[in-house]
Amino acid sequence: MKSTAFFAALVTLLPAYVAGQASEWGQCGGIGWTGPTTCVSGTTCTVLNPYYSQCLPGSAVTTTSVITSHSSSVSSVSSHSGSSTSTSSPTGPTGTNPPPPPSANNPWTGFQIFLSPYYANEVAAAAKQITDPTLSSKAASVANIPTFTWLDSVAKIPDLGTYLASASALGKSTGTKQLVQIVIYDLPDRDCAAKASNGEFSIANNGQANYENYIDQIVAQIQQFPDVRVVAVIEPDSLANLVTNLNVQKCANAKTTYLACVNYALTNLAKVGVYMYMDAGHAGWLGWPANLSPAAQLFTQVWQNAGKSPFIKGLATNVANYNALQAASPDPITQGNPNYDEIHYINALAPLLQQAGWDATFIVDQGRSGVQNIRQQWGDWCNIKGAGFGTRPTTNTGSQFIDSIVWVKPGGECDGTSNSSSPRYDSTCSLPDAAQPAPEAGTWFQAYFQTLVSAANPPL
Ligand code: BGC
Repeated sequence: MKSTAFFAALVTLLPAYVAGQASEWGQCGGIGWTGPTTCVSGTTCTVLNPYYSQCLPGSAVTTTSVITSHSSSVSSVSSHSGSSTSTSSPTGPTGTNPPPPPSANNPWTGFQIFLSPYYANEVAAAAKQITDPTLSSKAASVANIPTFTWLDSVAKIPDLGTYLASASALGKSTGTKQLVQIVIYDLPDRDCAAKASNGEFSIANNGQANYENYIDQIVAQIQQFPDVRVVAVIEPDSLANLVTNLNVQKCANAKTTYLACVNYALTNLAKVGVYMYMDAGHAGWLGWPANLSPAAQLFTQVWQNAGKSPFIKGLATNVANYNALQAASPDPITQGNPNYDEIHYINALAPLLQQAGWDATFIVDQGRSGVQNIRQQWGDWCNIKGAGFGTRPTTNTGSQFIDSIVWVKPGGECDGTSNSSSPRYDSTCSLPDAAQPAPEAGTWFQAYFQTLVSAANPPL
């Protein structure tokens, strides 16, 4: 729920979206677009992809995108690698305003993280529901802690455009450059080894083309704001599933498509200067000694296949999980694994990547890791009871390998439903250590949020 004030602010920030004609570089069409469809003089409305038409300088160029249906489904599109869709725009924001060249530094250095308005609104609404005034004000303060915005469906992408516009305006008005944190999360046959986060695209039904369009649409938004830095986590769980879960039919079937889609995301987001971290599971998954080397091989191969772009900084660990970065002592459930926390896992994995020539760096989700020793088995991942918000995001990580401690999972959004009649029901969400009743993945789980607040460590 966005407040009226939020929309009012957007209207002042985005005059081109409400005027009769879109401005140069403005959006002028695409699936779901309700704004102006004509462009100011000297520019032409050009189809970049089915979801995004843009006012480019000069006269029209030919595109071959064929849109035959509605909303998020595209039944036939041109190939994106080398067809007129991606090469037809002779100039564009990247031509005249290219993104800054890659920096070898920590991507967060010199930037302020733009707070996700989506999460801020969720938190503000949640805090209002809490009657205890002390707890309510602690809850409200969570809105000031940066999280990542998950683009878990095509429908969320227009939000990204508004955030980038707001971040750009904020950067200009304050003189402090802004950084927007996103999660790319819409693979066809998503979450192949579980059910809770199954996505909108399927491989059997044009999934790869739909995914490429999802990426194209994100790229089209980002390239309009070269002054805003974007950091992205790439496809939680996907590559980790290819390391350990090829015995699951859906994962084996998805392997080629996952690799092609992740490559498409990496190469195209690099072109518009997005700093990226591929998801690398966590210590209790790829951190087992037998899994480290196959994991390192896969990640370096994917990095190589994406041209070793300097924008592919490294790997993200513990996304939406509950492990400590540095456990005071090993949780008994980690027994048998010397890499019993994220720092051990990272210290074991980083040298293997270096051996392959990749000086990868890491980010680690600590959003819900404040309380330890609360799981019955290390593999449990769904709405773990008793969890508390964890270490705040910081670049003061104490490790040469870690660029930033981050909050990737927006705490309070659910991991998966406990309703056994839901098509996305995963029995992990009914285990004794899972908080219940729980709503669908990604939707707000008020009772769970309240526990995260009261059990926060450090306290809020
Ligand atoms: C859900 C997504 C959601 C994300 C962040 C995932 O488990 O599947 O829909 O955006 O968590 O809350």
